[in-house]
Amino acid sequence: MATQGKLDVLILGSGGREHSLLKACLRSPRVAHVRVAPGNGGMALEAECLEVDVNNSAAVLELVRRTGTNFVIVGPEVPLAAGVVDVLEDAGIPAYGPRAAGARLEASKAFTKDFLFRHKIPTAASATFAALEPALAYVRQQPLPIVIKASGLAAGKGVVIALTHAEAEAALRAMMEAKIFGASGDEVVIEEFMQGEEASIMLMVCGEDYLMLPPSQDHKRVGEGDTGLNTGGMGAYAPTTVVTAEGERRLREEIIEPTLRGLKADGIDYRGTLYVGIMVTSIGPRVVEFNVRFGDPECQVLMPSLETDPVQIMEDIALGRFKASAVKLRPGATIIVVLAAGGYPGEIRKGDVISLPTQLPEGVDIVHGGTKRLPSGQVVTSGGRVLGVVAHGKTLAEAAQRAYSVVPQIHFEGCHYRRDIGYRQLRRDGVL
Ligand code: AMP
Ligand code: GLY
Repeated sequence: MATQGKLDVLILGSGGREHSLLKACLRSPRVAHVRVAPGNGGMALEAECLEVDVNNSAAVLELVRRTGTNFVIVGPEVPLAAGVVDVLEDAGIPAYGPRAAGARLEASKAFTKDFLFRHKIPTAASATFAALEPALAYVRQQPLPIVIKASGLAAGKGVVIALTHAEAEAALRAMMEAKIFGASGDEVVIEEFMQGEEASIMLMVCGEDYLMLPPSQDHKRVGEGDTGLNTGGMGAYAPTTVVTAEGERRLREEIIEPTLRGLKADGIDYRGTLYVGIMVTSIGPRVVEFNVRFGDPECQVLMPSLETDPVQIMEDIALGRFKASAVKLRPGATIIVVLAAGGYPGEIRKGDVISLPTQLPEGVDIVHGGTKRLPSGQVVTSGGRVLGVVAHGKTLAEAAQRAYSVVPQIHFEGCHYRRDIGYRQLRRDGVL
């Protein structure tokens, strides 16, 4: 098999998550060469970036063959749902990420709710509808707040927490009648509102064996104190003690293990990242959602938490020979502070020149997201979450102090960021 020698890797994607995966490849003794498609301005400084439509699996396979790639790491969910891993594996190219059957855990919330109920995994009570009138009739009977979700992929925007019945009706009409998410709103899930604190649980899964990375938390709202509009994530940190030792035991026994057994029972050989979004509630952990890829920005704080080579783990999982018991984690805490473009998460400014510090202190790194490298060599803004400052420390307080010492040295027009990343944990740690 090609992977007996060193790896010639192709990473699919263009965000901060993929930049952190690239950095992991560049550090890995397993990797001889790494390319990225399509990549971003920061990745272009470190590796060859190639143009390809990552959602076109045939085009990806053609690129893989043309470049001599022998291992593919898939960053985002859309190519996974489109079956890129099926196409690559069927052509003899190992790839990290689930096949399309497993990717349905993210691509269809209706499928996921059915899966959770059948396997008796704790989650919000819900009902699924494929027609507007019965959905409207049902929602009018429900207590408030009530959660309305487009079943299909909607780039993280398909969830409305309605505080009034009028808002719930408007959301249903927007999804099912006006089709603001296209076919992703053909089915909707109407779900009980769960009270609690969220955590991101990232698993690296190989069938029934799995590695649980340190529980993390991201900060979805644009404003400090978790206010304002939802974003892709303005920052993250790990580990979080919102999941206590007892909470972790229940998480493994009541959620993770039944999920992996359920996948196997349903004939799905799941290999890749499984992101379990949980709500820590007064009655225990409950599933909010599954994603079938690393979180962004969670990935950026989790890659540095691995002492064991992450690429070796991904390769072993892709080849079905992974043993979680052999993995070593690094002690300490990691944080990322995201610097966003002017206007984000609304209409954003693009094309602003970015100036970066020439030297970084110990334990600090910069990960690019929405950036582009011009032919002149200048790096400019090109997306909402422009870049992130990642810092590691013995404690979260130390990591945060390191990250926030670098943030003011980065400049671009319109730049904004949250000054309170990690605040819930810093309070729990008694340092805020
Ligand atoms: P999702 O795309 O399903 O993760 O939903 C996006 C966000 O909406 C989640 O991260 C939660 O903050 C929130 N959310 C989703 N479902 C619920 C629920 N049933 N109860 C409370 N909050 C929810
Ligand atoms: N940070 C949340 C996500 O990646 O979905």
